[in-house]
Amino acid sequence: MYLEMLSGRLTLTPYETLHPRRVLDCGTGTGMNPLYRHVHPDTEVLGVDLVPIQPVRFEVDDLELEWLFPENHFDFIHSRDLVTAIKDWPRYFAHMYKHLSSGGYVEISEHSLDTFRTPDSTHPPNSCYTQWLTALTNSLTQLGAHPSLTLRDYSRLLRDAGFVDIEEYEFQVPVGTWPRDRGAKRLGGLFVENAKTGFEAYGKNLMLRGGGEEGEVERVIRECGEEMRRGRWHVYYLHWHIVARKP
Ligand SMILES: C[S@@+](CC[C@H](N)C(=O)[O-])C[C@H]1O[C@@H](n2cnc3c(N)ncnc32)[C@H](O)[C@@H]1O
Repeated sequence: MYLEMLSGRLTLTPYETLHPRRVLDCGTGTGMNPLYRHVHPDTEVLGVDLVPIQPVRFEVDDLELEWLFPENHFDFIHSRDLVTAIKDWPRYFAHMYKHLSSGGYVEISEHSLDTFRTPDSTHPPNSCYTQWLTALTNSLTQLGAHPSLTLRDYSRLLRDAGFVDIEEYEFQVPVGTWPRDRGAKRLGGLFVENAKTGFEAYGKNLMLRGGGEEGEVERVIRECGEEMRRGRWHVYYLHWHIVARKP
């Protein structure tokens, strides 16, 4: 889905000209690591995650604790979809700054969780999508995360950490295949594939941990899945990339 969103690119950093020697992928999941290797076989890529689910070089670590890497070590640090995980963003970005070499880049890739957007009036108020998002963001707030951060907030936090040449990118990701535009329709279709398991995988555990009642949480997730299959609502969310350089 992200490759589709970025028109086949892995990142928006000037990666090819940077040709980084050492890359850190934060909260790597099953995400980017093999893809980086594909682009630069000689690049040393390290993925860090709480959970050991990576097929390549990988360390189990908690990114919210002190980072034990050498200072000025990495040329590129990538961080995608950690809005549900990071509680102290200023500290997280300070770690990145400290362990990135001078002239190195960070790329932060996050998405809106505040609300779903619609270009018309097809999306009713208090829909199951909105209920899902509200329950999720309430839980995340209770757990100390910051689901309402915006593109501008991430940029400001990076600037405060000392980064320069900050570039902001914003994409609309359709929830479903409703757009007429072929690229947007394809992106929405990929989102649907993700969301078949994603509404539950992404939300259920967090909503229960935030005090949600199991039957109610399951109802909202079920209705979101059904509605997505029906595809009546023209809904999208925003996904952001912020690229910044350490001077
Ligand atoms: C939503 S997934 C994103 C995975 C990957 N970045 C991607 O975009 O495909 C979030 C990942 O961050 C990891 N994670 C959450 N909190 C973390 C922490 N404090 N330290 C390291 N990894 C963490 C989770 O285990 C999970 O694999």
